[in-house]
Amino acid sequence: MNAEPDVTLPRHVAVIMDGNGRWATGRGLTRIQGHRRGKDSVREIVETAREIGIEVLTLYAFSSENWERPPREVDALMRLLGRYLKTELKKMMRYEIRLRAIGDLRKLPKEILAELRAVEKSTSRNKRMTVQLAVSYGGRQEIIGAVRRLAVRVRDGSLEPAEIDEAMFADALMTAGTPDPDLLIRTSGEMRISNFLLWQIAYTELYITDTLWPDFRRQQFIAALDHYAQRQRRYGKTGEQLASQV
Ligand code: FPP
Repeated sequence: MNAEPDVTLPRHVAVIMDGNGRWATGRGLTRIQGHRRGKDSVREIVETAREIGIEVLTLYAFSSENWERPPREVDALMRLLGRYLKTELKKMMRYEIRLRAIGDLRKLPKEILAELRAVEKSTSRNKRMTVQLAVSYGGRQEIIGAVRRLAVRVRDGSLEPAEIDEAMFADALMTAGTPDPDLLIRTSGEMRISNFLLWQIAYTELYITDTLWPDFRRQQFIAALDHYAQRQRRYGKTGEQLASQV
């Protein structure tokens, strides 16, 4: 059977997981306890996305700027990431989830980087869903990296500047090969992009909720997808033009 793809379901959902700190301090807990609860939300959202049939889920786990946080918090976040990778590998294999990391991974502690690479390798053939973990990630830094890669090819004579188009540029980014996000969710109410996927979100639908990340679970995720299903994506065209295409 050749079922029509469900256009009301986003292929790629990206998430800015914000509000762990506020969730914790509001309860008299430490920020680190907030991140721990945030990890539980990560688990639940990955499972739900896989169940629903999302192809790519990109999670902003640690930004380039997060290195500036107090060393204790950075350390705790790295340890949480390491533990998450260790405990979730089995599930990723069972549910055929591929893990891919994007970001400046050279800055990661050696053992975390090794763990990430090992999970990427073990899951590389899994085809049902891709989880892209953005770690030590910054959108501007990613764009500079792509510019440098293309500039090297121009310098060595294998590329003419006029040949550079959007598709080639997208291919030089760390997200090469994945469709652009259809939906970007940001928790905890902040109206900012915070250096996340700057090139890739040109036409992405935005969904910002006041819910703090540790409280963002299955039900809240489904509510975001329901909102998305009601949006009309126009890509710069008029509503009438789109209606006449069908
Ligand atoms: C933002 O909350 C969240 C982060 C900087 C890190 C996200 C990390 C997790 C969800 C936990 C571990 C992740 C994985 C993949 C295992 P914040 O600290 O900026 O909150 P605030 O704005 O309320 O201070």
